[in-house]
Amino acid sequence: MTVSVIKNGAIARVIIDNPPVNAISAAVRQGLLDAVRTVEADDAVKAVVLSCAGRTFVAGADVTEFDKPPVEPHLPDVLNAVEACSKPFAAQIHGTALGGGLEIALACRWRLAAPGSQMGLPEVNLGIIPGAGGTVRTPRLVGVEAAADLITSGKPVKAEKALALGLIDAILPAENADQAAEDFVTAALGAALPEITSARPIGQKDEAFWTETAARVKRAAKGNTGPVEALASLKNATEVSFAEAMAFERETFLRLRKTDQAAALRHIFFAERAAPRPSELKGVTPRPFTRIGVIGGGTMGAGIAVAMRNAGLPVQMIERDAEAAARGQANVEKILKGDLAKGRITEAKYAELIGGFNAAADYAAVADCDLVIEAVFEDLDVKRAVFAELTRVCAPDAILATNTSYLNPDEIVADLPGPERFIGLHFFSPANIMKLLEIVPTSGSAPDVIATGFALAAKAGKMPVRAGICDGFIGNRILKLTRTTAERLVVAGAEPSQVDNALQKFGFALGPFRTQDLSGLDIGAFQRKAARGRGESPWAPVADRVFEAGRLGRKTNGGWYDYDTAGKEVAGTPAAVAEAIAAARADAGVTTPATFSDAEIVEAIMFPMINESAKIVAEGIAFRDSDVDLVKVSGYGFPRFRGGPVQYGRAIGFAKVAEGLEALAAKGLADGPSEALKAWAAKA
Ligand code: 3HC
Ligand code: NAI
Repeated sequence: MTVSVIKNGAIARVIIDNPPVNAISAAVRQGLLDAVRTVEADDAVKAVVLSCAGRTFVAGADVTEFDKPPVEPHLPDVLNAVEACSKPFAAQIHGTALGGGLEIALACRWRLAAPGSQMGLPEVNLGIIPGAGGTVRTPRLVGVEAAADLITSGKPVKAEKALALGLIDAILPAENADQAAEDFVTAALGAALPEITSARPIGQKDEAFWTETAARVKRAAKGNTGPVEALASLKNATEVSFAEAMAFERETFLRLRKTDQAAALRHIFFAERAAPRPSELKGVTPRPFTRIGVIGGGTMGAGIAVAMRNAGLPVQMIERDAEAAARGQANVEKILKGDLAKGRITEAKYAELIGGFNAAADYAAVADCDLVIEAVFEDLDVKRAVFAELTRVCAPDAILATNTSYLNPDEIVADLPGPERFIGLHFFSPANIMKLLEIVPTSGSAPDVIATGFALAAKAGKMPVRAGICDGFIGNRILKLTRTTAERLVVAGAEPSQVDNALQKFGFALGPFRTQDLSGLDIGAFQRKAARGRGESPWAPVADRVFEAGRLGRKTNGGWYDYDTAGKEVAGTPAAVAEAIAAARADAGVTTPATFSDAEIVEAIMFPMINESAKIVAEGIAFRDSDVDLVKVSGYGFPRFRGGPVQYGRAIGFAKVAEGLEALAAKGLADGPSEALKAWAAKA
């Protein structure tokens, strides 16, 4: 039974049992409605405790049903029935009460929660708003301002905070919670019952509050419409009757559920749950890891060391010599001191984190590490020498990982003993902050070594995505293409700032040129140099010239843009960049620069990205298309509400993307559609 009723004297218990997270499916809604009828019809029952089996209270509506038309009974009607039942309900919450789960609790007379449990209305993270009274009942319990925070941020609150807000009535003891909940209700029946939530008054706010809050919410939402719509529903709830407010909320919920944004956010929700659990590793036990070695103490090595320390793992860093080791130590201290200054950690935590870290120049110091991550210069010979040394000093079952961005991990470890223990673990900068971790098996990686990569990600709070070996794996391969595409646009006639601005309006955190200024134009320039050394001919006529002019980006106070002494971008294309563009246009025979609308720029950037994603999936570099999307969203500032390049392409239609690519190719702005994309288009 999905919902069962246990009668035991005056207090009945209604239990929802819908593993894994008690999501509100049609069966749960019907079961709950039937349970209300059952207890209503039984004179012996005086009150009801509603609880859930398994690890959590209800996690919300069943998101898998959102692609289909709504099925009766609808949740608002079920909850009106719960609220109207003459036998008062108490919700007994453990784990999480989220979305529709919290809405169930809001319709009960009392809300009792286990210590450490959490409550929230995360619907805006799925591009929707609460659809069963969240924006209408919540303000009646916690006030309009606190409700606005809860609903527009989507962030859950812990039981203690919920109690302080008035969202719940009591925190239950950790032991014998069931008995305590029933005792609470028995005692409460002896006094006057609290008013049902819908009958409680709702606070009022002046226009200034709504205008200011709406502006703040819109800014923070960065293009996600959910929070803005949720606030509108809350405001409406303060102005009309309960029933009218419920109708308005429901209409908004059903309208938003059908949008591309909501589909995109659902796609990422499921992508985030699929990526960390690859089916081929089911049943594979990861190797234990208790002490981490990090080779190289530069940007990445220091960030990785901090990420590992934050995960509670002792870290031994190795640098080239004592002086470099001291620099590595200083780099780690600098990151941790920054966290201290920002109040992210306490003095005591700082001491603990730095206490578990050591930097040295002698490789013997990593002899007892069971997992070593190399982050030295991006140079094949340097990396090969490091791995040769590691195979000499480390235990034969120690896992040895490379953080290379573009080199082939197979080449780095070729001919070294113990091929099963090598793997690529590609962190992103700053490694202590960025969630993404590409896990790149080498051709020899043993399954338990790959599984350890995923286990390390889980321990360090990273989002692991398996990626195959190719130039740039998943993320940087697309990044490289986007840089080229952006430069094609500039050579054809666009200004760098126009390209950046169009993509930022689309939702990217930063456009491709501003991103290069931030990370440094030297990175790309060195890659191109290395590629030319291998006989390849990477195309970057403008970036090459800007780099040769000594403009490396923010670190030299100028790259694609100029910066003032405060580090603020100076409007306009700098003269040196304009000269580089003019020279590249002359070489390309562009006499009349073309003009582009923002929409054309977005297409010219996005369509090749979608094309490349199709190739990446077809080649098996990514296992699933949602993995590509997850990489771009979690590592490259791709707008989450657009769901990543593949989901965006799906929303437009792959056939239309393929047609668009033909047109772009005719103008020399992109390659034509790949066979992989054509296959997607044919299937759609
Ligand atoms: N609907 C359908 N499936 C869900 C789900 C939901 N609301 N929430 C979780 N699941 C599934 C996951 O996809 C996963 O499936 P899998 O095992 O096949 O991959 C499984 O349940 C377990 O989920 P997690 O891996 O996320 O488990 P955790 O223990 O790490 O986290 C959780 C549990 C905190 C509840 C987390 O799952 C979560 O945040 N869920 C979503 C909560 C949410 O967004 N609720 C609002 C839904 S919209 C709504 O309620 C509308 C209403 O206003 C009408
Ligand atoms: P970096 O130049 O900041 O640091 C490299 C460090 O390695 C230097 O401190 C150097 O002294 C040390 N080193 C060199 N040879 C060594 C050796 N034989 N033994 C010990 N230490 C040695 O470089 P960065 O940016 O940290 O990059 C390191 C690696 O991480 C590269 O492979 C890079 O491609 C990759 N990477 C870089 C990212 C970035 O955004 N910077 C992102 C993801 C990966």
